[in-house]
Amino acid sequence: MSRNEKMMSLIQANESDLAKKIKFNPFLPEFQVDPYPTYRRLQEEDPVHLSQVGVWVITRYTDVVKALRDPSLSSKPSEISYASSRQQSSSPVASLSNELLFFQEPPDHTRLRKLVSKAFNIRVVEQMQTRIQEIVNELIDQVQDSGVMDIIADLSRPLPVRVIAQILGTPSEDYNQLKEWSHWFSYIFDPMKSSKTNQQLNQAILEFKDYFSHLIHKRRQHPHNDLISALIQARDEGDKLTEDELLATCMLLFASGEETTVNLIGNGILALLHHPEQLEQLKQNPSLIQSAMEEVLRYDSPLQICGRTTTSHIEIGGKVIRKGLPVFLIVGAANRDPNQFQAPDQLDITRSSNNHLAFGDGIHYCLGSALARVQGQIAINTLVQRLPNLKPQIDKLERRENIFLRGLTSFPVSFSN
Ligand code: HEM
Repeated sequence: MSRNEKMMSLIQANESDLAKKIKFNPFLPEFQVDPYPTYRRLQEEDPVHLSQVGVWVITRYTDVVKALRDPSLSSKPSEISYASSRQQSSSPVASLSNELLFFQEPPDHTRLRKLVSKAFNIRVVEQMQTRIQEIVNELIDQVQDSGVMDIIADLSRPLPVRVIAQILGTPSEDYNQLKEWSHWFSYIFDPMKSSKTNQQLNQAILEFKDYFSHLIHKRRQHPHNDLISALIQARDEGDKLTEDELLATCMLLFASGEETTVNLIGNGILALLHHPEQLEQLKQNPSLIQSAMEEVLRYDSPLQICGRTTTSHIEIGGKVIRKGLPVFLIVGAANRDPNQFQAPDQLDITRSSNNHLAFGDGIHYCLGSALARVQGQIAINTLVQRLPNLKPQIDKLERRENIFLRGLTSFPVSFSN
């Protein structure tokens, strides 16, 4: 039997398994509340799983890492995607995707990432630390006397938008509008979005693009000490960002840093409130915040899925996946894999070996991980130190409907003042 014939017979064997008992349905409300039992069953019974909606679902840590580093898995959305979210080649989403760092492959990705990293680097994050602490203090000052707050509306949603807006250099009166566009923009990574969401996404991109186009024009004429001006000036051996790349990069930095960080702070505080002894330990010893941050990133990852498309027939975990198919690499599941982490379902803020995949791996590893970590650490530590006896109102928690991003839309708490 030739190699090709062998591949084809493996593919047929795989696909006849389609009716496997385990169901991966990320839209079920019970899955959205707690996906971890389903992930564990998949890891144990069918770690490379062809779901009933035609997406391959990979849940074991070793398979997910290997796939994140495999050049035959592309971050470009699959052609055989979902009818509801299929893009016309002329749609704003389709034309923006051509310029977006995240959807690029080497050598274009390498070139673009190098240029963006010249402007958006660790120095930018270091310079922002004091300001991040000030913003967190201002946000907590506003609720401190009332004894109640909504962690999402009062802290974790306003913080990243102010931080990234200040870094990029967008005026403060535009925060609310930017927050709105950025919310819709985050659906660009979701291949299962409804056609209504898709319309809103396309509209948001048009407006977002128009907004940054004006701002870039202004900064070209009068550079400021901000990231937009730095991106305009970024050079690598004579190479620079084109106008479309500049626009796409501003939007990507804004949106990818916003919704994810909202979830990091919300999920992190929720995990600590569910584990009062861990919360107390952090309160007594604030220097544990660095390992606590890594642990909450692992325990309830803000971004659960890295979406990929196979560019050739490939083998993962003993199964062969056809070329051109969508694959979900579930980092949220890999981060709870018992073969990688001891007692993976326990939150342990002192965990020392914590090689989690919350920021991905391989060439698309998160460009904003340092900024996200600093914001998360300052927000969580300040909240824990300043607001005693924090108590969640569990019956009022609301989850967001986005299968890639895991987080809350409403998280009311009470505290002593
Ligand atoms: C807790 C917060 C964050 C989480 C959990 C997170 C997670 C991730 C993950 C998992 C990826 C890889 C996706 C993939 O391979 O499919 C990624 C990529 C990326 N992230 Fe983040 N991110 C966070 C915050 C940020 C921030 C604050 C920024 C910037 C302001 C940012 C900018 C980016 C960019 C530009 C990429 C694409 C990099 C590339 O394609 O080379 N992220 N992020």
